[in-house]
Amino acid sequence: MAGRSITIHRLEAAHLPACLDLAASRGWVRELEQWDLLFAVSDVFGFDHPHRPGLGGTVAVTRYGSGARAIGMLLTSEDLARQGFGRQLMSVAIDAMGTGKAELCATPDGRPLYRNLGFVESVDVTRYSAARGTARLPSWPNVREYVPSDWASISQLDIDAYGADRSALLMTLIGRARGVHVAESSGRVVGYGISWKNYPGLVIGPVVAETMDLGLQLISSCVAGCPEISQIDLCTSSPGIKSWLEKAGFLRGDRLPLMTLGSCSSPAPGNQAWIQALASPALC
Ligand SMILES: CC(C)(COP(=O)(O)OP(=O)(O)OC[C@H]1O[C@@H](n2cnc3c(N)ncnc32)[C@H](O)[C@@H]1OP(=O)(O)O)[C@@H](O)C(=O)NCCC(=O)NCCS
Repeated sequence: MAGRSITIHRLEAAHLPACLDLAASRGWVRELEQWDLLFAVSDVFGFDHPHRPGLGGTVAVTRYGSGARAIGMLLTSEDLARQGFGRQLMSVAIDAMGTGKAELCATPDGRPLYRNLGFVESVDVTRYSAARGTARLPSWPNVREYVPSDWASISQLDIDAYGADRSALLMTLIGRARGVHVAESSGRVVGYGISWKNYPGLVIGPVVAETMDLGLQLISSCVAGCPEISQIDLCTSSPGIKSWLEKAGFLRGDRLPLMTLGSCSSPAPGNQAWIQALASPALC
């Protein structure tokens, strides 16, 4: 169904409370830190609700170099559902995309729309969370805290994994991180993991590592000593990592499959198997 005419415009940080209200009206938690991060690294678009104060819809587009985009936070007000506004927001997001690839994590609500637009499921993503202090994970001697001289290695590792330059996002996340860990093998950086605060606790991600075992070590180090709820958007279909998390006290949450439109042309397709956990569903 074609939507009525609305004006979709760029939102600024001053719209953050209205974004939180719209998300809460759809049953999403009020992720203050995540929205704040999106206003720092992404373009957030939205439109005013046609009948009352506040926003009628939002979508965020994060550009990774010139070849890839993440689309997230697609929301429309429930009283405007099925009137074509979600599709209009997605068309703004896709127009901003150029010729690269776009990825998003799809809720069940969003999947029919994304399929209609040509997105296809690519990678399985499942959310895991552990209540305050319940995760029981060992610490690992091969993982250490990040130091600034690791920057070139981890940004290159990330490019090799994603096939896109996400250094602006990583730099911002490191600046806001609760912890940043790197895994080394024979003196070479072979993985990194970032933990950052986002209501209601701590997000573990992104975690990028050349092997699943190293990914586990990094997750373990990020969670160690964490007194808060911790949350991981796990991006691997490996049953080993899932059962390890469940044994450690994590509970399996929603499945939010990654869906992709287009293909990555620059600089390379990337080694998806190294991506163990996402920064967040909105940032992919
Ligand atoms: C997903 C969401 C943004 C869709 O917004 P919307 O304004 O209702 O979507 P539209 O009216 O533009 O619908 C777009 C298309 O999807 C279809 N569609 C929308 N919801 C659907 C549903 N629940 N089941 C089947 N099809 C659906 C519509 O038929 C339409 O298809 P068409 O253009 O071929 O007719 C909205 O439901 C929402 O905010 N949900 C809660 C938050 C969420 O889960 N967001 C997605 C994050 S990944």
